Amino acid sequence: MRTKILVTGGLGFIGSHTVVALQEKGFEVIIIDNLSNSYVQVLDGIEKITNQRPIFEQIDLREKEMVKKFFEKYNDIEGVIHFAASKAVGDSVKKPLVYYENNLSTLIYLLQELQKNSRANFIFSSSCTVYGQADNLPINEKAPIKTAQSPYGNTKQIGEEIIADTCKINLNLNAISLRYFNPIGAHSSAEIGELPIGTPQNLIPFITQTAIGQRKELMVFGNDYPTRDGTCIRDYIHVMDLASAHVLALERLIKRKEDSNFEIFNLGTGNGNTVLEVINTFEKSTGINLKYKFSDRREGDVIAAFADTVKANNVLGWKAERSLAEALQSAWKWQKRFA
Ligand code: UD1
Repeated sequence: MRTKILVTGGLGFIGSHTVVALQEKGFEVIIIDNLSNSYVQVLDGIEKITNQRPIFEQIDLREKEMVKKFFEKYNDIEGVIHFAASKAVGDSVKKPLVYYENNLSTLIYLLQELQKNSRANFIFSSSCTVYGQADNLPINEKAPIKTAQSPYGNTKQIGEEIIADTCKINLNLNAISLRYFNPIGAHSSAEIGELPIGTPQNLIPFITQTAIGQRKELMVFGNDYPTRDGTCIRDYIHVMDLASAHVLALERLIKRKEDSNFEIFNLGTGNGNTVLEVINTFEKSTGINLKYKFSDRREGDVIAAFADTVKANNVLGWKAERSLAEALQSAWKWQKRFA
């Protein structure tokens, strides 16, 4: 019998790549997704890569009764990776209650079900956004949490607090929170990737859509930051590297290797790149000239963020292996499928 894992939001960007990595490692995957920001066709892409079609349940996790029924139907799930959440920062400012309800009630309902088990393993999708503008770079897991800049960011902070409080009183619950830096790229096969609905908010989809001619030009938000070329610095991490970190985290939980029943890891490459460096690397590695111009700073952007990877390297045994050029090439290969 294969170990059954529930992946919520498993048809989304990071979720779908993690499903592939799990299936390749022999896990049996059940996906819950409400298709609010994803497509059911992603299942075909996953199947093409792995020759396996995961079980799919179209459930909205805000429906508490449905969550309960799901766990009655699948009573032998050994781990949950919880990706399902809303993630557009600007949107969250306009619709705070939608974000708080969606990102927090779903987490609570899942934990309520898991509490009933004698043993439960849980992985939470968090973000480096919890650090805000960190005082020291690279950012390690002990860096203080800063006041959130948006309801979205706040849901990640509160989400972690909910898990920490629950783990304190429920020692059967073992949880890991993974704080991602900037996930980019697509599967090397280009069968799955990022599918932003509407105008993309993030840099890489904007770059590839501009390169393909879908958008006139890229706006670089600010060129007067105190960095080496005036543009912001981020730690761009290939989504396939991120996916393998989830498998390692899950194995750590299943094997009971944790130092405490709630652990936190930063997931990044450890390298920071400016927006202009990303543009140059894209141009060099694809041979395409990108049209861009500078505009005002975007509200809420931090100057620089990149990960201290020591804990993930030493404790989780994980290291990012793919380069920025490779990640950008994979994003481009994926974008070209929609030409
Ligand atoms: C953003 C969120 C972060 C969230 C993450 C999830 C903000 C302020 N932060 O991270 O909380 O966890 O997405 O996906 O929204 N840029 C441009 N032009 C563009 C788009 C982006 O110059 O058209 C620049 C930004 O100013 C930034 C960098 O590119 O310096 C990366 O931006 P983005 O991809 O949106 O990621 P973050 O802002 O780092």
